Amino acid sequence: MSVPVLKSQSPLLSRVIVFIVLAHFSLPLLFAQARPNAKDLLRQMTLEEKVAQLSQIPGFPVPEFVRQAGQPEDVVRKYGAGSVLWVSDPKEINRWQHIAVDESRLHIPILFGLDVIHGYHTIFPAPIAMASSWDPKMVEAAQTVAAREARAAGIAWTFAPMLDIARDARWGRMVEGAGEDPYLGAAMARAQVLGFQGTQPGNLDRVLACAKHFAGYGAADGGRDYDSSYIPEEQMWNTYLPPFKAAADAGVATFMSAYMDLNEVPATGNRWLLHDVLRDTWNFKGFVVSDALAVHSLITHGYARDGQDAASKAFTAGLNMDMASGTYMKFLAEAVQQKRISTQQIDEAVLPILEAKIRLGLFEHPYVDEARIPQVLNAPEHLELARTAVQRSVVLLRNEQNLLPLDKTKIKSIAAIGPLADAQLDLLGMWGAMVKPGPTVSILEGIKNKVGNSVQVEFAHGPNIRRDIPSFFENVPIVPIKEQPKQSPEQARKAMDDAVALAQRSDLAILVLGEIALMSGEAASRSSLKLSGGQEDLLEAVVATGKPVVLVLVNGRPLDITWASDHVPAILETWYSGSQAGNGIADILFGDTNPAGHLPVSWPRNSASLPLYYNHTRTHAPEDAPDFTSRYWDVSSKPLYPFGYGLSYTTFSFENLKLSQAAAKVGSSLDVSVDVTNTGSRAGDAVVQLYIHQQAGSASRPVRQLKGFQRVTLQAGAKQTVHFKLGPDELQFWSPATKQWVVEPEQFDVWVGDNSQAKLHADFRLTQ
Ligand code: NOJ
Repeated sequence: MSVPVLKSQSPLLSRVIVFIVLAHFSLPLLFAQARPNAKDLLRQMTLEEKVAQLSQIPGFPVPEFVRQAGQPEDVVRKYGAGSVLWVSDPKEINRWQHIAVDESRLHIPILFGLDVIHGYHTIFPAPIAMASSWDPKMVEAAQTVAAREARAAGIAWTFAPMLDIARDARWGRMVEGAGEDPYLGAAMARAQVLGFQGTQPGNLDRVLACAKHFAGYGAADGGRDYDSSYIPEEQMWNTYLPPFKAAADAGVATFMSAYMDLNEVPATGNRWLLHDVLRDTWNFKGFVVSDALAVHSLITHGYARDGQDAASKAFTAGLNMDMASGTYMKFLAEAVQQKRISTQQIDEAVLPILEAKIRLGLFEHPYVDEARIPQVLNAPEHLELARTAVQRSVVLLRNEQNLLPLDKTKIKSIAAIGPLADAQLDLLGMWGAMVKPGPTVSILEGIKNKVGNSVQVEFAHGPNIRRDIPSFFENVPIVPIKEQPKQSPEQARKAMDDAVALAQRSDLAILVLGEIALMSGEAASRSSLKLSGGQEDLLEAVVATGKPVVLVLVNGRPLDITWASDHVPAILETWYSGSQAGNGIADILFGDTNPAGHLPVSWPRNSASLPLYYNHTRTHAPEDAPDFTSRYWDVSSKPLYPFGYGLSYTTFSFENLKLSQAAAKVGSSLDVSVDVTNTGSRAGDAVVQLYIHQQAGSASRPVRQLKGFQRVTLQAGAKQTVHFKLGPDELQFWSPATKQWVVEPEQFDVWVGDNSQAKLHADFRLTQ
């Protein structure tokens, strides 16, 4: 090999350069372990050491049944550990890691896992909010930042994305996912996996992602968290599994099994899910972790007889790692000795865990560089992206007589009212508050930042809001969010009167209502969607003052705002929007940004109409028939706002829907195009959505299914032709009649527009 540069140097200089080059590449190796080969490592391991790699040790006080497996740190010292859960203080991470790397026999580093769901220090909008952006690129960028911050602080594995389809807003965990639709859910799954993991294994700015909760958790009976799910196979394939399949195809490193019974077999012991679907059908090569304590819970479910039975059932179902229950630690070796499980099976389960650690670069870089953390966490571009994410996620639900955007030159005083108007931690949602969040801009502060001294902004809290039954998370030490204090009826009355009086003496009221963070998320299901704790009364009393009212919703699920949808001129859905909530929301309120978020869920009128979803099958009395009124006689059975809905400060028209062919052969693709024009007077983003319906076939097909979307920016008056592809991937479905994926030669409808009730229609035929 010739080295032309060196040839022209003096011999001494050349030697210096060679030394520098060699030192550059070899010096780091002197201070770190070399990257091992997973199979070599495996050959040196005892059965106990292998079982330790199959275990995630809780880094927090644990129940008695876990402790019996040994004191966590002693276990690591003796055998190592696959992972440690919920240790997030970088000093602690280094301390644990030193025990594993310096003191355990094989020096295998620990993989630290944490729920970095929508940010670590810079908190982005909650997943349901990010899905409302219909902007996978933005979502990917947000999760790239989340990964960078988490990895800098020593977290190399996040338990996200959460991919559960949720059709029932009573279920508390709707907030953690992308809503009700498998196509949008799959797009958000891909984006998040790419954001967390990147495409370069070993990049020290990335983390392993975890597709959870596999699968069907969102279909819990009655929306009650942890209750059983009963999901027919066709719904599993067509509705609940596509986001998980998309994550697997995008290379997600890990899966998490869900807590609940799926069709009477707990997901954590469900071989059909963890083996037949995931490994046999999808060829997944990573590893599967249980949800917390879920291996032990197989006994509680009445599925396993005892600890050994639970360990064996979970393991043989295809579960590599036991999250924090200690059941593998205690019983897996015993199960091998009793020949319920073979050593080869154990090796096959350990290998992907070792490989993941190697790929991540953990052997070369096991420790956190504490000095570097602040520089990464405080990067100004992270906050900027968080603000952009809020601007792109907020959904404008109603805007009568263009009350919004507000003109700060025409308003003298604003009343910011409501139990969430000055909230900070509550704007982060449960997971956002539980990691290591930086400062949060409240909505009150955001409004003040925006209007400066020219407008008087006063605040009234209104009555406190609380859960009727407290959340157990309030007593978990790492959870900083709390309920608002209990008030006497007199205190609540006074808070209400103060708020109304403030509205009366102001030009305009901005009411911030909804749910504190503990009202949404895990163990936060509810039976009613009403604005709780006197908020409905507060809203009605403020509206009765006759002052213009903007309702800003902060919440993790659609709420019953039927009254507001008739009486409040402007309604903005902001979900939990993270560190930059206040600034991003003020950008929208005052028109520096034009909203373009669209709902990722159908908005129910009340909780009695749940589950509710737009892509149901067509009945003998369809909703589009001329004489259709409602399925209920007391309330319309249609959503208050349909899936895909969202307003803008401008208007768009959709015209010229064209298909490349009126008929195409099964297996081929069509081009669908539509002209989208910004017909208003300011720039804005349209979310162009494509829906299809197969008119007949081996099974009834949903009335509509989303099969394409694009968010496009259009200047006032501008027109763009938007193209979609409709090919076998979009046209196939899993047929309950044939028990396989099919594309059928049938007639199809196509609609394009900006929500799931779009009217612009065309059709085509697929032929054999
Ligand atoms: C239980 C939750 O269901 C899951 O989503 C989470 O990742 C684990 N706990 C770990 O925190």
